[in-house]
Amino acid sequence: MKNYLLLLFIINSCFCFSQRSATVILHPENANTQISKHIYGHFSEHLGSCIYGGLWVGPNSEIPNINGYRKDVFEALKALNIPNLRWPGGCFADEYHWMDGIGPQNKRPKMVNNNWGGTIEDNSFGTHEFLNLCEMLGCEPYISGNVGSGSVEEMAKWVEYMTSDGDSPMANLRRKNGRDKAWKVKFLGVGNESWGCGGNMRPEYYSDLYRRYSTYCRNYDDNRLFKIASGASDYDFKWTEVLMQNIGNRMNGISLHYYTVKGWNGSKGSATNFDKNDYYWTMQKALGIEPVVKRHISIMDKYDPDKRVALLVDEWGTWWDTEPETNPGHLFQQNTMRDAMVAAVTLNIFNKYGERVKMTNIAQIVNVLQSMILTNKDKMVLTPTYHVFEMYKNHMDAMFVPSEVICDSIQIDNNEKVPMISVSASKKEDNKLFLTIANVNADNTEEVSFEIPNLNFRKFNSYILKGESINSYNSFDNPNSVNKEIFKDIKIKGEKVVVKMPSHSIVSLELY
Ligand code: AHR
Repeated sequence: MKNYLLLLFIINSCFCFSQRSATVILHPENANTQISKHIYGHFSEHLGSCIYGGLWVGPNSEIPNINGYRKDVFEALKALNIPNLRWPGGCFADEYHWMDGIGPQNKRPKMVNNNWGGTIEDNSFGTHEFLNLCEMLGCEPYISGNVGSGSVEEMAKWVEYMTSDGDSPMANLRRKNGRDKAWKVKFLGVGNESWGCGGNMRPEYYSDLYRRYSTYCRNYDDNRLFKIASGASDYDFKWTEVLMQNIGNRMNGISLHYYTVKGWNGSKGSATNFDKNDYYWTMQKALGIEPVVKRHISIMDKYDPDKRVALLVDEWGTWWDTEPETNPGHLFQQNTMRDAMVAAVTLNIFNKYGERVKMTNIAQIVNVLQSMILTNKDKMVLTPTYHVFEMYKNHMDAMFVPSEVICDSIQIDNNEKVPMISVSASKKEDNKLFLTIANVNADNTEEVSFEIPNLNFRKFNSYILKGESINSYNSFDNPNSVNKEIFKDIKIKGEKVVVKMPSHSIVSLELY
């Protein structure tokens, strides 16, 4: 057995099936930072069946649709209040030529999707289809521009096409293609993974390209672009350092990608068939995003103490082996309670760094990696991760409430500890407090006591997400195996709120 999975032992007591306890001290009086709603953002790439079969089936499909958008998927996403959607990639973005995706759909040229299984892309989902979807969802589009194989002119014209209301060549072309009024596009990514699939560049070279490309991406009329530089992967702190030095305030944001993945070569492990050692390894890898984010932030603080440049974790989530008998280039994976737990603890972490972390995008929205939704022909299931996003919605744009968590941990063989309880708290109005709590413990119930000074709440609304086991998932035959339920095991005693959480469960709790 791989040695990193080998050793698993409880630090504070034996690993037995019993109840354990944790204390959380909340400081609502220090709620000074807003949690940007964009932390709950999403990502859609031309990859596998994310777009085709996932978001889009075309108006002539037998699958119920609204002007070509899958009805069931659209309605499920609408219920999430998604704040932003990134498109068209990922790696795909740096081979995408937007002019191929406008005009009559049957006249659009085809291309080979070289990054993702060599699939033929017919460009039937292009700029209009994407931006109209964002309008229907009520979310901000986040366009990822092509630096790797594109040109400055191509990117500049795309911005003009989307956002200019004047009598300009690109605005007129858009009008000819059926859209009179410009769309609002705020978020613009200048390349993606420019150190890898986006051109294999060095940070010094990319910095200069960023400066050049972004110069010609104009603010038309009252549209104001928020320009995002292609940032580092994981532990590449040098990339962030060089970009901060060379680009600085010319960018509004810099991205970061962090996947919960075992490695890039060989098996990444099954999405559903895993044991408790795999589970705890995954949890420590997911929690490992916190020191990574902190270190990138500390580099940014050195060059930008006023925090004018945002950190955007615009790709994150789990990455497993693809499901058997699916195209390995399509990254279609199942999604269990383990994925839900990764989402829960990661979002709890992001909420903490709201001063600098202004947006994050889980990868990806439908049918790819840690998705919200899986589809198979006319069938659709909501994943456990979907339910986490649904349960966490109240944190969007709320004020972050700092907390201290005192709980047991387990240690795995590389000396990393996995705390059993992860918490996030926020408030929107003084008379309401919102908590999200994950009991990471695979075996034990945890009684979590919240100490809240001047507590005057007497009522609550609460939901729980739990499965039979950490391996539970929703399949097309059994779509409701993991679903949120109303939760009642909560007691309000004096200045304490006590939540009795079953093993491997996630709770949202609104106190009022
Ligand atoms: O999300 C899948 C891929 O992962 C993206 O296309 C790329 O940016 C990253 O490497």
